[in-house]
Amino acid sequence: MTKIARKQGEHAPRSSEAKLARILAIAGDAIVSMDAQHRITLFNEAAERMFGYSSAEALGQPIDILIPTRFQAAHRQHVELFALGPEVARRMGERQEVTGRRRSGEEFPIEASISKLHVDGELVYTTVLRDITRRKKAEEALREQLLAVQRLQTLGSRFVHEGDGNLKEILGEIVDVAIAISSADMGNMQLLDPTTGDLQIVAQRGFAQWWLDYWDSVSRGQGACGTALERGERVIIEDVEKSPIFVGTPALGIQLRAGVRAVQSTPLVGRSGHVLGMFSTHYRTPLRPDERALRALDLLARQAADLIERERAEERRQLLIRELDHRVKNVLARVAAVAMHTGRVSSTKEELLNSLGDRIQSLADAHVLLSRSRWQGVGLADLVRHQLAPYTNAGNTTIDGPKVRLTSAATEAVVMVLCELVTNAAKYGALSMPQGRVSVTWAAGSSGRLSEGIVIRWQETGGPLVTPPMRSGYGTNLIRRLIPHEIDGAVDLLFKAEGVSCTITLPAEQLVARDR
Ligand SMILES: Nc1ncnc2c1ncn2[C@@H]1O[C@H](COP(=O)(O)OP(=O)(O)OP(=O)(O)O)[C@@H](O)[C@H]1O
Ligand SMILES: [Mg+2]
Repeated sequence: MTKIARKQGEHAPRSSEAKLARILAIAGDAIVSMDAQHRITLFNEAAERMFGYSSAEALGQPIDILIPTRFQAAHRQHVELFALGPEVARRMGERQEVTGRRRSGEEFPIEASISKLHVDGELVYTTVLRDITRRKKAEEALREQLLAVQRLQTLGSRFVHEGDGNLKEILGEIVDVAIAISSADMGNMQLLDPTTGDLQIVAQRGFAQWWLDYWDSVSRGQGACGTALERGERVIIEDVEKSPIFVGTPALGIQLRAGVRAVQSTPLVGRSGHVLGMFSTHYRTPLRPDERALRALDLLARQAADLIERERAEERRQLLIRELDHRVKNVLARVAAVAMHTGRVSSTKEELLNSLGDRIQSLADAHVLLSRSRWQGVGLADLVRHQLAPYTNAGNTTIDGPKVRLTSAATEAVVMVLCELVTNAAKYGALSMPQGRVSVTWAAGSSGRLSEGIVIRWQETGGPLVTPPMRSGYGTNLIRRLIPHEIDGAVDLLFKAEGVSCTITLPAEQLVARDR
């Protein structure tokens, strides 16, 4: 029984004493009384829970055991002033926060109000205390969130106004905001390399170089980000030590060494539905980010994806402008050269105009094909079909080979060479006779892989008997020289009796990767 209860008990009926004891016991707030000497005289159950002392331990002890040493003098002074003052009750720490100390030594924020009462001529102070640790934390989190939302807004307007700013820099800022919003400790952004299909880090916060080296290039299924890439959806790993994705792999040691216990990876998905990259946040303690954090991460991922797509569209636009610029100059130079050579070898005005017309048309054809492919590379089959079209009838041509696309330089060179081959075949070779045939086939380079380049074979059959020419005109010169000179390929033109054959080798650099 407490001292105050005992004192009251002397004057009050037993039932009200019991009532008071019950009220004190079930009170949600801690209630602590002390006497004029600042010794604890009442310590309810909530106070026991709050401070970690039992009431038996606390009773009779100086109130200072509940106060951090540096605040004890101020507390004493505060209470003494209150004792002299006219008020009977007052909230403590109205202007500044009151700090309590638990038995463990841990300090915590308190909201307190104090009252004084004269009992039998002796001054008794009673304090009602509330632990506001959680409220303070919630306030703090709210403040952080507000700040993060503000940063998000600033970022958003930067996207709109600057757009073409440094992509990596802005992605880094998105990572910053993600860390703040989801209370993460580290984070990174990866982009998908379209040729290798791997994820590469472009922005990060909080990681050491050795960690970045390890995760430099991540393939499908590897780690949290590689798994999210494989599944095409977010992956949350609440504890790396318990995740099958990490357990038993060297990646677990790497994560633990970096202090990573939990991680989430969210795919960056473009408007067309393609995965552009990955957005990950990392946590030092095992946890699952709450729904609010996950929604915020989705929002950030959306912004990052938009930004990446916009940057890529801009890159493509720049490339197109450069390409067009280059081609216009190129085409004009070619037309001038073609006109000059054709003029030199043509004996009549009609011949000159016809040959010149055909050759300028072939340049125009190359342009149409390139522009139709939006400068992303022209399919070889389309190109060959286009050049042979004026002479093709049912069954006199064969066009066959694997699907390959040529760069614009290769497209232009191959079109011009084919134009000369076709013209000659029509003038002197297989296409000059109804039973003549032309076959154009191609295959991957020496080892059968496109990475070795391709070999195109032009073969005429069924035409007149061929005798090697005594003189070479503009046509054969162009056929033999243009490709080796312009795109580092090789050409072998042979005048065999059964028909002209021409073998053209194009280096791999002149092929465009399939899915770009
Ligand atoms: N497909 C072919 N079949 C048979 N002979 C051919 C064939 N292509 C070329 N020739 C022979 O080779 C010669 C040289 O051809 P080339 O294309 O260099 O000059 P050209 O066609 O006479 O004139 P141009 O300079 O206008 O091309 C031709 O005159 C022809 O005799
Ligand atoms: Mg010719």
